[in-house]
Amino acid sequence: MSITEIKPNVYSVGAVDWNIRDFHGYSTEKGTTYNAYLIKDEKIALFDTVKREFKEHLLYHIGEVVGDPSNIDYIIINHVEMDHSGSLPEIIDLIKPEKIFCTKNGQKALIEHFHHPEWPYQIVATGDTISLGAKTITFIETPMLHWPDSMFSYIPEDKLLISSDAFGQHLASTGKYADQVSECDLMHQAAKYYANILMVFSPNIQRLLEKVGEMGIAIDMIAPDHGVIWRGDRCGDILTAYKLWSSYHSHDKALVIYDTMWHSTQKLADAIGSELAKGGLEVKVLNLKVNHRSDIMTDVLDAKALVLGSATLNNNMLPTMADFITYFKGLRPKNKVVAAFGSYGWSGEAVKHINQAMEAINLPLAHPGVRAKNVPTAEDFAAGRELARAVVAAVKELK
Ligand code: FEO
Repeated sequence: MSITEIKPNVYSVGAVDWNIRDFHGYSTEKGTTYNAYLIKDEKIALFDTVKREFKEHLLYHIGEVVGDPSNIDYIIINHVEMDHSGSLPEIIDLIKPEKIFCTKNGQKALIEHFHHPEWPYQIVATGDTISLGAKTITFIETPMLHWPDSMFSYIPEDKLLISSDAFGQHLASTGKYADQVSECDLMHQAAKYYANILMVFSPNIQRLLEKVGEMGIAIDMIAPDHGVIWRGDRCGDILTAYKLWSSYHSHDKALVIYDTMWHSTQKLADAIGSELAKGGLEVKVLNLKVNHRSDIMTDVLDAKALVLGSATLNNNMLPTMADFITYFKGLRPKNKVVAAFGSYGWSGEAVKHINQAMEAINLPLAHPGVRAKNVPTAEDFAAGRELARAVVAAVKELK
């Protein structure tokens, strides 16, 4: 990646990670970027750093803008997670910054990660402003977007919001801006990022969007720490998408998510999927063996129904279903109806366990569930179709 001057004397100096394919359990088939920004003013400020193994990329880019890194005066830590701070100790050794600006939680997290209580921290809170000379930075705390320490940095002279993880995408590209990459990749990766990283924090995002609205700040560029930068009208596109996603908006779409041992659960999945489609829903039938949990979560974002199928193995659901449910419930989806089905040989606990897991996260069961012993009979398929019709009816009831 080369440096880009995104606003006068504001540079993007981060790194592209073309080949990462797993980001703490999230499949990143399009790679990602670790964006860092540099403002050259009377005081020179660096916003965030990069993952440790990309330190040389960051230093090369810093060198192109300011020469020796020790010319940098301030480091702004918008977020402490290691993809943005992994190289920080070595960067601090080179820069020897006059000040490190971060939230109170940021200082705590930095000390917990790097064990340097002597670094020159300066705690900031929402509304605090510092001057770099011609430009100023206003800080906006954004707890849980993505960690308790997170904050935005806003540069009013440039109408520029440096937004940390929010509004990001795991999307590696030579294009720097949203209008320079494939539209299809862009919104899919933005949605996948929201579904897998931020869905759990949707209430915080709703409050933050309201707060930013009340602050009345003008924005014509949003520069996240991952993926491409939103400029001009594209800022409105991602803000509108975040309003929608954080409201748990969904449409008449059902996912049949299953794993199978000897194809019995699969046969039921196909029959249930067909009946759901007959009921007017958009349907996807997804085998957990070939669909990554994070891709399924992207579909969960706007689906109103999940129908979960698992054969019973040793008195339990299949491990793939347990994996998916663990991941799914951590992201706390809302405004969905659910139902379960599955085949079994002798005891058949999978359906009961799935139902219990869904009840524990307050997702309503549209049907008590369907179990088929060994290979489904005509009666089992009829029960599956009845389950599907109950799901369709429950979907129609949802707002
Ligand atoms: Fe991109 Fe929460 O780190």
